[in-house]
Amino acid sequence: MSDQAFVTLATNDLYGKGALVLGSSLRNHKTTRQQVVLVSPQVSNNMRAQLGRIFDEVILVDVLDSKDSAHLALIKRPELGVTFTKLHCWALTNYSKCIFMDADTLVLCNIDELFEREELSAAPDPGWPDCFNTGVFVYRPSIETYNELLQFSTEKGSFDGGDQGLLNSFFSNWATADISKHLPFIYNLSSVAVYSYLPAFKQWNPSYGADAKVVHFLGNVKPWNCSYNPKTRCVMRDSNDYSSAVHPEFLNMWWDTFTTSVSPLFTEQDIPKETSSDKQEEEKLSEAVSQLSFTPPAPVVSSEERRKKWEQGQADYMGVDSFQNIQKKLDAYLN
Ligand code: UDP
Ligand code: GLC
Ligand code: MN
Repeated sequence: MSDQAFVTLATNDLYGKGALVLGSSLRNHKTTRQQVVLVSPQVSNNMRAQLGRIFDEVILVDVLDSKDSAHLALIKRPELGVTFTKLHCWALTNYSKCIFMDADTLVLCNIDELFEREELSAAPDPGWPDCFNTGVFVYRPSIETYNELLQFSTEKGSFDGGDQGLLNSFFSNWATADISKHLPFIYNLSSVAVYSYLPAFKQWNPSYGADAKVVHFLGNVKPWNCSYNPKTRCVMRDSNDYSSAVHPEFLNMWWDTFTTSVSPLFTEQDIPKETSSDKQEEEKLSEAVSQLSFTPPAPVVSSEERRKKWEQGQADYMGVDSFQNIQKKLDAYLN
């Protein structure tokens, strides 16, 4: 199976961390395929070395940026122009078939059966199910397709400013042509979509014994931006924290893989000897984790913004808008 590979991308060290966790999760679930990570020059040498321990190939690519701020504003992700860099994955012609996975995905079981699918297979996007989500897709490397995609990107651009808009226009018959190219949603389970159809989430959530296969931390809440307590093995949250938009169970799974499979690689090498010699194992782990993570300030959501989110169906069911809090409000009002 040396001519088939899982491929991901990191244009900076933060997404590099995501790639390390994704790569470890694929290894832990015993994939028989190769693992490739595309990195851009901005990724540090240290991160490339760590990636080299998990991935079979670390390939340097130049950044492709749509610079399409107008369309990117529509998805409120000005930084995603660089996702055009993903297009380089079609140039990996040493492989006959590949599965691209975003660096913010996590594999929960072996998914090698996806290699039986054809280009372009992908799961529906939770926001617009007639589009596919480009966080997980099956494709065939080809210089011809690669060149066509590059040409398409300069001539037609992307309706969302990122790779997803571009690839959906390029593979425009995905929604209607061939149902075998529709991957089940459990191969790209969006961690923010779960609250929009809670009964289905309960039905397919792994903790209920069901078979979710890949979790995708889609959106601007990424696991590496949350703080984690290695002693309790839980992500630290408060009800106003933006991490409350993501199911805590998924965040804990990501961090669990990080602490058990990734941070041991760092603790061996990266903690200076003089401090590590007299520390307990657990303290070393906390230190490694805190060196690798940063906590962004939790944005305070105004009641106006909260109402807007509520009206858009994005209530924070686990936090400020939890049933308990609503009941408290009602009780106070009635009293
Ligand atoms: N990516 C990257 N650097 C960036 C932004 C994105 O390397 O600055 C890569 C990374 O593989 C990431 C993918 O492009 O997973 C898509 O971006 P993201 O996952 O943030 O988009 P979302 O799934 O949240 O829409
Ligand atoms: C999506 C996808 C992501 C893609 C981005 C920009 O939400 O999850 O993979 O890079 O849109 O197009
Ligand atoms: Mn993603």
